[in-house]
Parts: sequence; structure tokens; C-alpha cells
Amino acid sequence: MNCFCKIVSQTRSVYTNCMLLKETPRNLKGKKHSSQLWLMRQIRDPYVEKAKQENYRCRSAFKLLQINEKYKIFCPGLTVIDCGAAPGSWTQVATNLTNSHAKSQGPIGKVYAIDKLPFFPVEGATVLGNMDFTITKTQETLLALLQGKKADVVLSDMAPNASGIRAIDHDNIILLAYAALKFALQITKIHGTLVIKVWDGGKSQELEQNLLRFYNNVKIVKPDATRDESTEKFFLARGFKGLKTS
Ligand SMILES: C[S@@+](CC[C@H](N)C(=O)[O-])C[C@H]1O[C@@H](n2cnc3c(N)ncnc32)[C@H](O)[C@@H]1O
Repeated sequence: MNCFCKIVSQTRSVYTNCMLLKETPRNLKGKKHSSQLWLMRQIRDPYVEKAKQENYRCRSAFKLLQINEKYKIFCPGLTVIDCGAAPGSWTQVATNLTNSHAKSQGPIGKVYAIDKLPFFPVEGATVLGNMDFTITKTQETLLALLQGKKADVVLSDMAPNASGIRAIDHDNIILLAYAALKFALQITKIHGTLVIKVWDGGKSQELEQNLLRFYNNVKIVKPDATRDESTEKFFLARGFKGLKTS
């Protein structure tokens, strides 16, 4: 197997995958057990390498790419709000697929990316780093930037710092999910789309029921790039019905 890999070293992915099965990081000494596990997982994860090869800031890009491949949520010209965007791989995907960087002929989209952490600019996106999405001022800033225009797609990959206690982490991510939903209800075009990440738990079903009140179609999606051991899943809500004003 090794020889084969060396012979076809020009097909880097084959070579890399072979190496991934064998390689163990050399610098594990002195690291906490959890850090050792993280390093081992990173080095064995084909999406980590693929992200490097395709210039994505992190492996999460492939989750959104896989969702889009199946459900076609993006096209050139769309306006997208990306909540919990740092370090920016979903933003990269959104700018490419909406043509908000105007690199192709045709309609030019708009992408707004928000995170409570600072992050580097992404060409074609308006990046709002250091801004907590759950704070009114952040949402007012976004509304001002939108200038009364509505969004086609709202994304929330927001995740709290995990405590390791499943029920607490679930509750916290659900709070972020509702913050995204509440904002999406105000600024989404009729027929628009919402993608929300949650870590599964007791409140997921209620969230799904609430999404169904406002969207014609709600699917639970677990892209291949989501790690098998993760409780992460995405609600893909399509066909925004609008809010009744009377
Ligand atoms: C899984 S990461 C997002 C990865 C990103 N989608 C990408 O592809 O690069 C989750 C992000 O949610 C952000 N986040 C958590 N709570 C937030 C909040 N209240 N407001 C804004 N961002 C938040 C975190 O700072 C973190 O960067």
C-alpha cells in the first residue's frame, strides 16, 4: 500500500488518505488527553486535509457545500446572513455560490457574516467580527446595513463554548437557534431559507414544530462532513411563509 501511495504521489488525496491511516502526531507529549484526542482526530480527518487543499478556512465548509449540493439553497445574486461565521469557511462558500465577490459574470449577491469573535475579512462579504448576535445592537447594525432589503438565506452555525454537559450545551445552542430564528422572521424574503445548527436534545422537536409554523418545509440534515460521533444536526427550513401582520 505504501509503495502504491508513493508511486501515485501526484494524486495527493490518495497519498494523504493512506498516510492518514498510519500517521500519529509526534508532539503529543505533555498534552492533556482531550488535546491528544483532538490532534489525532484532526490528523485522521480527510476533510481537514481537503479544506487545506481547497483553501477553506476550516472543514465546516464541506457541511454547507454538501447541504447545498443536495438542496440547492444558493445561487448567484442571493443575499445571505451568516451567523456564527468565524473563522469564515461558510462565508467563503456563500460568497462563491452567490457571486457576492463578483468574480463571475451574472447576478452579484450580498453576504453579511457575523461572529462574536474577531475574524479575517472574506472577499465579497461584509464581516462583522467581535459582535454578539444575541445583542440588540448587533441586530440593529445588520438591519441598518440591509437598508430595508430582505435576505434570501439565513444561516446559523452558531455554537456556544461546549461545557461537556450535554443537556446544558443543548439548552445553550437552542437559545442561539431561537435568536437566529427570531431575526430571520424579521428579515427573510417570502419563500426564503433558514439553516440552523443544533446539538440534538430534548428541545429539538419543539424547535422543529416552531419552524414549521413559519416555513413550508423543514428537514433535518446531517451532512457526511458532520463527524459520526457528533450530536450536531441542521434544520433546513425552506419556503418562508412570512409573518401575519394583522
Ligand atoms: C462552529 S463555529 C462556526 C464555523 C463557521 N461556520 C465556519 O464555517 O467557519 C461556531 C461559531 O459560533 C460563534 N458564536 C457563538 N455564539 C455566538 C453569538 N452569540 N454571536 C455570534 N457568534 C457566536 C462562535 O464564536 C464560533 O465562531
